[in-house]
Order: sequence, then structure tokens, then C-alpha cells
Amino acid sequence: MTIGTALVTGASSGIGTVYAEKLAQRGYDLKLIARDRDRLDRLAEKLSADHGVTVQALPADLSEPADLEYVSSMLSYDASLRLLVNCAGIGPSGKVLASETAGLAGMVYLNVDALHLLTVAAAKAFVARGQGGIINIASVVALMPERFNPSYVASKAFVLALTQAMAVELEPHGVRIQAVLPGFTRTEIFGRAGIDINIIPDEMMMDAEEMVSAALAGFDQGEIVTIPSLADARLWETLEDARHSLAPHLSLKHAAERYGVTKARRLAR
Ligand SMILES: NC(=O)c1ccc[n+]([C@@H]2O[C@H](COP(=O)([O-])OP(=O)(O)OC[C@H]3O[C@@H](n4cnc5c(N)ncnc54)[C@H](OP(=O)(O)O)[C@@H]3O)[C@@H](O)[C@H]2O)c1
Repeated sequence: MTIGTALVTGASSGIGTVYAEKLAQRGYDLKLIARDRDRLDRLAEKLSADHGVTVQALPADLSEPADLEYVSSMLSYDASLRLLVNCAGIGPSGKVLASETAGLAGMVYLNVDALHLLTVAAAKAFVARGQGGIINIASVVALMPERFNPSYVASKAFVLALTQAMAVELEPHGVRIQAVLPGFTRTEIFGRAGIDINIIPDEMMMDAEEMVSAALAGFDQGEIVTIPSLADARLWETLEDARHSLAPHLSLKHAAERYGVTKARRLAR
């Protein structure tokens, strides 16, 4: 008996590989998604040998609508699936103004559209089954839009907002969802983007093992948003409190006084 199957995207390297390892240790059967068939096959063989779970390597390019549809439909028809981990993602290689528009659009398609489709497919399937969990890998840059490539930052802000909003819809159905916001994490993402990882200060770089262990602990603790580096959780709570305190002021019949609109309208009457 296993505890169900977890589908991990981006499982061929970095954060996704560590999730696959940790979930196999926990007794999940696995479906591993990424493009690199050889790496997925090697990982599947190792994890099933080490942990006695069933691991399927399922090569797919989530930037291709047909492959995305294939993975998405699996979430609906495979009743053994209990967990979706959305790790597949790519980083930018420079500033937006120096980037090819097609490259930015490709990044946004994988980081946003693919993750969105898989999250919604999993949410519907898990609600119908009355159980399940979704883990979405966002990034701390979602909270610091001024510090990084705008298209990448916006893609990660989408993941954070989607997760926070979905949590409200899923909560009554007993389905969990979590956004993980890693800081710099030692993976291949930098090399793939042509960035020398050594230029990043060592004290800002977490090992993927430690990052995923903390993120899974946050998931176990019921967190909707997990920031592995953040020692003082009250800082996040303060930010959320401030955001919620804006709510009563954001949608009103009249524009704020400082825009002079209501005064001008009153004088015109
Ligand atoms: N490392 C960091 O500092 C950091 C920080 C914050 C957030 N993140 C996020 O963490 C996630 C994982 O990144 P990582 O750091 O682990 O990088 P990584 O080692 O480069 O892993 C990225 C994974 O995504 C897969 N992938 C890329 N394009 C794909 C496609 N079109 N279809 C299917 N799979 C695809 C890659 O596999 P194939 O090449 O085999 O397809 C690989 O398994 C990303 O969403 C990233 O934005 C990373």
C-alpha cells in the first residue's frame, strides 16, 4: 500500500528532483515530468530501487499545448493522484529591454500558463475525490518586483496570487494548496540562463535539499505561503495584515479627494 501518487513537473533537475526524492521517501508513487527522458529514466530507476515505490518517467514538453493537455488530462483520469508539485520553470537571461520578445513569451507560457492549467485541472480532480494537495513553486521575487527581470517577477507574482486565491476556494473541500517562495537556490537554473552562479553571495544561496525540506515542513504545518529563508514569520504576517487592511478602501463610489475629481464635479453642478 502506498499513500497515493504525486505528479512532479520539472523533476529532471534541481528543486523538482529533490521533491521527487523526498516524496518517494514519504512513500508516494511518482509520475515524473520534464523533457529530458534519460535523466527522468535514471531518477525513476533509482527512486524505485531505493524506496520500493512505483515511479513512472513521463517525458513531456509543457511548452507544447499537446503535451500540456496530456499531463493535464492525467490529473483528471488517474484516481491514484493525490499531489501535484509544479516545479517546471525557467529563469530569464537578462533584462527585458535586452531580451527577445519570443523568449520572454516562452518563459511566461511555461511559468504561468502551464502551471495555471495544471493547477486548475488538479484542483477540480482533487475536489471531486475529496482529497489532495497542490504545491506551486513561486519565488521571493514575487515580493520584490523592482529587483529582477520584470517578466519573470510577474510570472512568479501570478503563481503567488493564484495560490492564495485558490486556497480560499479549495479550503471547504479539504484540498490543500501551497505557494513556495524560494530565494536563490543552488540548481541548474542559473547555468541554463547563462548566469554564473558564483557571482551570487554564498550567504544568499540555499541548497535545494534544505529548501525543499523546509518547504515540505511548511506544507505539513498547513502554510499557504512558505518562505524557507524567512526566520521571523511575523514579517510576512505584518505584510498580509497591511494588505488586508487596504480592502475596505479599494472599491468605492467616488475617487479619492487628492485626485480633485469629486470637487471638480461638485463645482460643475
Ligand atoms: N533556483 C532558484 O534560485 C529558484 C528560486 C526561486 C524559484 N525557483 C523556481 O523553481 C522552479 C524549479 O527551478 P530549479 O531552480 O530547480 O531549476 P532547474 O534545475 O533548471 O529545473 C527546471 C526544471 O524544469 C524543467 N523544464 C524546463 N522547461 C520545461 C518544459 N518546457 N517542459 C517541461 N519541463 C521543463 C527542466 O527539465 P527539462 O530540461 O528536462 O525539461 C527541469 O527539470 C522554477 O519554477 C524556478 O522558477 C528557482
